[in-house]
Amino acid sequence: MTSSEAPNRPRPVRAGAGEPVEVRMTVNGTPVTVHVPARVTLADVLRDQLGLTGTHVGCEHGVCGMCTVLVDGEAARACLLFAVQLDQAEVVTVEGLGRPDELHPLQESFGRNHALQCGFCTPGFLMSSYDLLTHQPGVREQDLPQELSGVICRCTGYRNIVTAVREAQQAHPGGIPAPGNCARRALAGRGTGRSVVDEEPTGAPAEQSAAKAEIVLPEGEPTIAVDVATEVGVGQDQVWAVFDDVHRLARCLPGAELTEELGEDYYAGRARVSVGPIKLAFKGVAHIAEHDRAARRMRVLAQGRDTGGAQTQADILLRTEPAAEGGTRLHAEAKVYLTGRIAQFGRALAGDVSRHMFEQFAAAVSETATTGDAPQGRVKAPGAFRLLLRSLLGRLRRRSR
Ligand code: FES
Ligand code: FES
Repeated sequence: MTSSEAPNRPRPVRAGAGEPVEVRMTVNGTPVTVHVPARVTLADVLRDQLGLTGTHVGCEHGVCGMCTVLVDGEAARACLLFAVQLDQAEVVTVEGLGRPDELHPLQESFGRNHALQCGFCTPGFLMSSYDLLTHQPGVREQDLPQELSGVICRCTGYRNIVTAVREAQQAHPGGIPAPGNCARRALAGRGTGRSVVDEEPTGAPAEQSAAKAEIVLPEGEPTIAVDVATEVGVGQDQVWAVFDDVHRLARCLPGAELTEELGEDYYAGRARVSVGPIKLAFKGVAHIAEHDRAARRMRVLAQGRDTGGAQTQADILLRTEPAAEGGTRLHAEAKVYLTGRIAQFGRALAGDVSRHMFEQFAAAVSETATTGDAPQGRVKAPGAFRLLLRSLLGRLRRRSR
């Protein structure tokens, strides 16, 4: 079923060969608008425009099944559909199936049964088997190889794949649970450099007020919730003198750099972070949604993406209160949403990274508030080795208590 009342009925459009056509659809629960020439496939829109690279492309001829997604609840080859055919359609990709920290039962079962192998065909198998178990929950075991034959595994490890699907079926005889990661969130393409999420479901053009439209926080649970407090040895007024000056404040953010003032409390910037082999360089936008010096509260919404499709969004509330001996207690609550490569960090490590970055930020604010000057050079992004070591030591300490 489509998310709109009307059935999926493509509207007639006349367009030149390279002329972009507006297409509105819902992808993993998020309404999106893309502008693409009529020749562009759904697979290319998902991967290049929306950054959803979980949909793999093998043959591009409808043979291998790697690109299988759900369109209005039915399995479909994303390489055989033109995006313009899908106006008003509801699409679910493998990213919508489960959350990194709460996988779908099929994903769990694939992992448990060593059905992942090289992983290239996995998204196709997952979406195809989801479709199968939804429409035929009682499919016989002996029919599974035939039913799943629409996806080709080049590793030829079918036995484990069939076992995984069978196990998920047995665990859910009444029908496989619905996709668990479909909620409104920002989708930022790798090639477009701008968000394609509809800001208003009422249909405001996506191009309008691009900077503001880019910050659309997801509705679901955050990947990480950080709630930390630390004391700095300067008074609240000195801390707020830093918070009042966005340039000095930005220089206190580890690995971050303010590159442009966009007006109306919107700012463009860059940030770098690396953990282990993962090195990310984000470009993004931050919006100071609340700056209440009297109430000692500041709320910042931020959103960034890196060239590899990793995305992060954050809703950060900074508060201060008096601490003993004239100091200030600096409090930060952050809801952080991660998608793409960055989600590989895992919830625990990402939480440790976020907490450590906050400590660095608080120390830099304290230094800036004391000296009146922003730290010399930028506050360095946390380094991989130091972060991992701190994280491990922290865990060992917590366990030994
Ligand atoms: S890439 Fe679509 S079926 Fe092979
Ligand atoms: S696991 Fe390698 S192609 Fe299927």
